[in-house]
Amino acid sequence: MGLAKKHIQELKSQDIGAFLQENTVNNAYIMGLLENLGRLPSSFNGDWLVKLLDNENSGIRFLAVKNLGKLKNDCFLSVLNNVAINDSDTNVRREAVSAIGRLRKLNSKEILFNKLKDEDPKVVCQAIRGLLVFKGMEEVDKQLKPLLNHQNEMVRQVIRKEYFSSKETNNPQKHTESYDYLKNIVVHGDTIETMKLLKDESVHLTFTSPPYYNARDYSIYPSYKYYLEFLRNVFQEVYRITKEGRFLLLNTSPVIVPRVSRSHSSKRYPIPFDIHHYLMEMGWEFIDDIIWEKPEASVKNRIGGFQQHRKPLGYKPNTVTEYIFVYRKSTEKLLDWNIHQYDDETVKESKITGEFDTTNVWNIDPCFDKVHSAVFPIELCKRVIQYYSYKNDLIFDPFGGSGTVGRTAKTLGRYFFLTEKDEKYFSYMKSKFSFELGDDCPAKFMSFNDFKGTIV
Ligand SMILES: C[S@@+](CC[C@H](N)C(=O)[O-])C[C@H]1O[C@@H](n2cnc3c(N)ncnc32)[C@H](O)[C@@H]1O
Repeated sequence: MGLAKKHIQELKSQDIGAFLQENTVNNAYIMGLLENLGRLPSSFNGDWLVKLLDNENSGIRFLAVKNLGKLKNDCFLSVLNNVAINDSDTNVRREAVSAIGRLRKLNSKEILFNKLKDEDPKVVCQAIRGLLVFKGMEEVDKQLKPLLNHQNEMVRQVIRKEYFSSKETNNPQKHTESYDYLKNIVVHGDTIETMKLLKDESVHLTFTSPPYYNARDYSIYPSYKYYLEFLRNVFQEVYRITKEGRFLLLNTSPVIVPRVSRSHSSKRYPIPFDIHHYLMEMGWEFIDDIIWEKPEASVKNRIGGFQQHRKPLGYKPNTVTEYIFVYRKSTEKLLDWNIHQYDDETVKESKITGEFDTTNVWNIDPCFDKVHSAVFPIELCKRVIQYYSYKNDLIFDPFGGSGTVGRTAKTLGRYFFLTEKDEKYFSYMKSKFSFELGDDCPAKFMSFNDFKGTIV
């Protein structure tokens, strides 16, 4: 039970220090009190808070510092500095630096300069935050700018954004728009060659499932290294053609390449984990790992042997999951910037209504197709497109297959652009699209050369 608001209001108007001395209260009571003090008038006597800085409970020390910070009184500067240097708990130290920063007093500058050398990067970030209030003062800028070479990535990012960012992109197109020659187009050709024809920042969202390494007839590569290099080149181009701050959702899972004979073992390739570091290196920012879970009855049975012999080491669980890793093209802009590019009507029309996934585990039945052996379930495409794009956005799938991403995008009021190199699947995809009278942007299927001729 929390402390009653009325009780706390009463306490605030009296001498809390004296009250605490006269009454025996436990730590939970003190914590409750500190958590619920709310706004404090500058006349508030914080001396009893200073006494709590010696409490053995780090939670109490943390909250005491936080409340001292609210007083914005520089008579507590040296006490807070003492905590920032000596407290044994790093959260308490950070909070003390944050409180010093929030004082916004010129005489706290020197203390904050010292904190820039702290070994905890979060303390350094708090000190930077406090000092940025004085951004533009020569001595402050002189201390902050060199942190562009700091060993911690968060510190570097803050300094880059504050001092070295080029605010304007040179993209001539509005963020929400896309080129007409890409809308509802399927190109029969190699995806990398096709992407090379596209301008920077052409697509809003990419959702794709690359060929499984040597596990299907359409996906034969000379070596795993070659395969990963191929994917690296694909996603490097996807990065270039993705609009600022927009997403790539990559569906992969480890694959097994069967054994050569009974005297050899099969090999399992951890594709999602191997491709991940390439993506990070080229600038994609990791956002989420979504697990697509299928019913056990729908997947290959691997556990049968173990079920009979039950011998350790021979355990092979049925694989009921695939990964959908979510990446964002790096930018200094917040997601809010992306969202604010859209007009109110588009935002309203794109809102997700009704039920939605509240966890990163999505239960969806797989889809089986008589022509293509690895098609997306429409339900999966629906969720991805609705969660990660707005109406009229351009959705790209470099590995089009049977065209599920394209068809779903169209039904959801988005445009699509697909590439597929296999003649059989390209024709199959064409047969699956319905062409309706009155459709002002029907799907167009083109050879690589025809598409090349349309680019303006
Ligand atoms: C896993 S399937 C994608 C299936 C698709 N998600 C669907 O719902 O139908 C991968 C597809 O990529 C195609 N592909 C492989 N290499 C390609 C390349 N270099 N350029 C374009 N498409 C390619 C394959 O022919 C295959 O149809």
